[in-house]
Amino acid sequence: MRLKDKVAIITGGGRNIGEETAKLFAQEGAKVAVVDLDKERGGAVAKAIKAAKGQAEAFSADVSDPAQVDKLVKDITEKFGRVDILVNNVAITDNKKIFDITLDEWNKVLAVTLTSPFLMGRAAARQMVAQKSPGVIINVGSTSGFYGRSEAIAYTAAKGGVSNLTKSMAIQLAPYDIRVVMAVPNKIGSPVGQDIFDPNRPVVNLRKNRAGTPMHVAKVLLFLASDDADFVSGSAVFVDAGVTAVMPGDTGVGA
Ligand SMILES: NC(=O)c1ccc[n+]([C@@H]2O[C@H](COP(=O)([O-])OP(=O)(O)OC[C@H]3O[C@@H](n4cnc5c(N)ncnc54)[C@H](O)[C@@H]3O)[C@@H](O)[C@H]2O)c1
Repeated sequence: MRLKDKVAIITGGGRNIGEETAKLFAQEGAKVAVVDLDKERGGAVAKAIKAAKGQAEAFSADVSDPAQVDKLVKDITEKFGRVDILVNNVAITDNKKIFDITLDEWNKVLAVTLTSPFLMGRAAARQMVAQKSPGVIINVGSTSGFYGRSEAIAYTAAKGGVSNLTKSMAIQLAPYDIRVVMAVPNKIGSPVGQDIFDPNRPVVNLRKNRAGTPMHVAKVLLFLASDDADFVSGSAVFVDAGVTAVMPGDTGVGA
């Protein structure tokens, strides 16, 4: 077991990547706080983990709300005694163009996608520092943080921010033995904010015969959260089947 007795917080743990990660971490011995705004979704995942003899508890909170975040980390610490791992997985997207998005919509995407990893990271790190023990914070980024897109003006900006937030957090939390890393998925399971898995979702990557599944990301998050990644901090691991390796204009089709 690679996370035996570690306390792991997974935000957005009620669906898709977060759900699979919560289940995998629990299988690896972690006590998992399944955090989701949607109480039913998070509750169902915690229930499934318990049914499989794992340890989990569902917590319902809006991770973009500073007061809720502080209470959440306090509640989790009270329940499990400590915090060792945080996976900042929550994000929402806008799919809007620059002339179509309202300021409220922009602010909402930035709050949930960029500010929440800052708020959750800060609250979890405070607890890790108070415990005087090493910790790991993993931010889930996106290939959308590395490119401009014809839509999703706010999401692309927010995810670009998550990339640099990861680096500054890694530097500023290094004195406390807290590693901060980022995983960068592309087209995994259902699109962000949706329930439906479309097997015909266009796949643009170097593994054309394979669609990205939540487990592809969960396994990388497990590695990053474990002591196997002890020397990994401040960097990004791309879980994108090589799509970002392809030069714009190239077909991405090998010999
Ligand atoms: N799905 C993809 O193809 C894909 C690709 C690249 C990157 N990512 C990234 O992976 C992460 C997970 O994506 P996903 O598709 O699994 O997400 P999802 O939309 O399927 O699930 C997100 C969960 O977060 C919850 N949530 C939303 N806002 C919240 C809030 N304010 N507070 C608490 N919970 C909240 C939702 O209820 C939902 O259960 C995101 O950071 C996303 O940007 C996903």
